[in-house]
Amino acid sequence: MRFSSLARTTMASPFTVHRLHMRGRHRLVNCLNGVQRTFRRSAGTEPGAVQTEGTLGEDSGEKDGPKSFYELMADRQEQAEKSVLISCQSRTSEKKFLNFLSKHGDIKKHFFYESYGVYAVVEFACRDNVVSLLESAAIPSVSHESMVPFKSRLLSLRNHSSGESPSLPCQPQTTVPINELIQRLSREQSVDEQISSLTEAYQLTEENSRLRFLVCSLLKDIAAAYFPECTIKPFGSSVNGFGKLGCDLDMFLDLDTISGKNLKTPKSGLSLEYQMKRTNSERHVTQSILSVIGECVDHFGPGCVGVQKILNARCPLVRFAHQPSGFQCDLTANNRVAMKSTELLYLYGELDPRVRSLVFTIRCWARTHGITSSIPGAWISNFSLTVMVLFFLQKRSPPIIPTLDCLRDLAGPADESVIEGNDCTFVTDFSKILLQSNTDTLEQLLTDFFEFYATFPFSRMSINIRKGKEQNKPEVAPLHIQNPFETSLNVSKNVNSSQLDRFVALCQESAWLLQQSETRTPTGVGGKRTTKPWGLATLLLPSQVAGVKGRKKRKPHHASERIKSLLESLKSKNDGQKNSDS
Ligand code: GTP
Ligand code: MG
Repeated sequence: MRFSSLARTTMASPFTVHRLHMRGRHRLVNCLNGVQRTFRRSAGTEPGAVQTEGTLGEDSGEKDGPKSFYELMADRQEQAEKSVLISCQSRTSEKKFLNFLSKHGDIKKHFFYESYGVYAVVEFACRDNVVSLLESAAIPSVSHESMVPFKSRLLSLRNHSSGESPSLPCQPQTTVPINELIQRLSREQSVDEQISSLTEAYQLTEENSRLRFLVCSLLKDIAAAYFPECTIKPFGSSVNGFGKLGCDLDMFLDLDTISGKNLKTPKSGLSLEYQMKRTNSERHVTQSILSVIGECVDHFGPGCVGVQKILNARCPLVRFAHQPSGFQCDLTANNRVAMKSTELLYLYGELDPRVRSLVFTIRCWARTHGITSSIPGAWISNFSLTVMVLFFLQKRSPPIIPTLDCLRDLAGPADESVIEGNDCTFVTDFSKILLQSNTDTLEQLLTDFFEFYATFPFSRMSINIRKGKEQNKPEVAPLHIQNPFETSLNVSKNVNSSQLDRFVALCQESAWLLQQSETRTPTGVGGKRTTKPWGLATLLLPSQVAGVKGRKKRKPHHASERIKSLLESLKSKNDGQKNSDS
């Protein structure tokens, strides 16, 4: 059924210029030179990255175009299954450490990082190597405490010999502070370079991604005590391509590998089936499973602290901190629609490098101004904000990304997915997606994004990435963004009108700032690079527009006098407008 609609759409679709294989992709991307370098960091080519063999890029880089979401997940999960996490002393000799571990097998990759001490992530060539390593590990001897004898792949290295080595080279797992970022951006020569630089500074590194999958794999070992065939998969910003260093780790306990394995009952003769406990609701099953796993994590999970079971939420979850990785974790079950949204966002991010760059920039801008927050409340969520960016990119002329309906029409039979009655089908094969030749620069896109939402008719219209067109609002809510898969839901239902007003006012201010000749270009003297905030950097300075200051009281900022006076003039212009409106 989908094949016939695929043929039809391919003919009729406006996306007929660039097929997303490497050749087409390069043609499109060549006009975006600055963007390309943004993606090198996550491929692990940063100087100083500790690599055991090959380059990290070999595993994560693109060979014949981007990896599908499933390939990415499968590769990362396999790496994680062959990995261990070891707490080390900082002054351990790296060479000795590797020699010691390689007695159990070849080490494919390793790196160190700091989080309440120094840790090493070590990936072996095969799982037997990990088994051998675990068999050689001792049970700690403690005299005044009792221990839960749960063995896991989280270990501690004991160094019984004397002698000091240089500190182990640690990979950063956190973002640069905002002031440092502003300075860094101010040294760039164009807004496009600033956007690329921001993305490079904020995006998840190769190492951080590996660590996220490893934490899921360690958690899976705990859940496997009850459900040996389960998997735990990351979703949300850890894997959708829009994750910032330090973002939370959303995890999904997948039990479908168990219940999905349904053998056909023979029509005649004998057969067996499992006796299983029955309850009257799926939600109740999810709550019971999470309750038990939550208890296990709390009582037996090494490094898991502050476990909270939030089982009455719309989406029940277990929240805890995983100390060795420093991740704030949310474990959910039966959350397949969120997994599908993650896959969709991943696909959009891979279609064109400008998507990720713009999303990173807008997310960073929003966070700096307190439009988004890590605490749940009446503000816009990162997920909603990302959907807003996608919608804006669909509305470009020509569009930069296709609509969800277009992606659904391109889907093949293997892509069919219906979850709880919701059509979650869309194409997963990148090569079927045709992109149009849009050559907008990132600077243009950023300016136009702010203008677009500064004047968007929020009071009447809903944002809809399925159609790629605004639709009449089906219900009263200050901000209406249709949930891409559960289409009767509004993903920004929580947002109140004052938060929306702040967003709009900040969009107006930022659009205006980007158009001012005094702030839109660097002011280098004698060819020297400026460190005075300009371009994107000025957008990250505290806002001067009345009523849109952050929720928290901010320290006095270091905007230049020039910017202050520009902002003052904007303020008086706004005041004048208000007076003439009233
Ligand atoms: P940060 O954690 O803020 O970096 O971003 P995130 O994308 O991970 O957001 P969050 O942790 O809040 O949610 C995790 C994932 O759940 C999102 O990426 C979405 O896939 C999904 N999700 C979150 N909120 C909604 C919502 O309101 N509706 C739907 N359908 N999915 C949501
Ligand atoms: Mg998240």
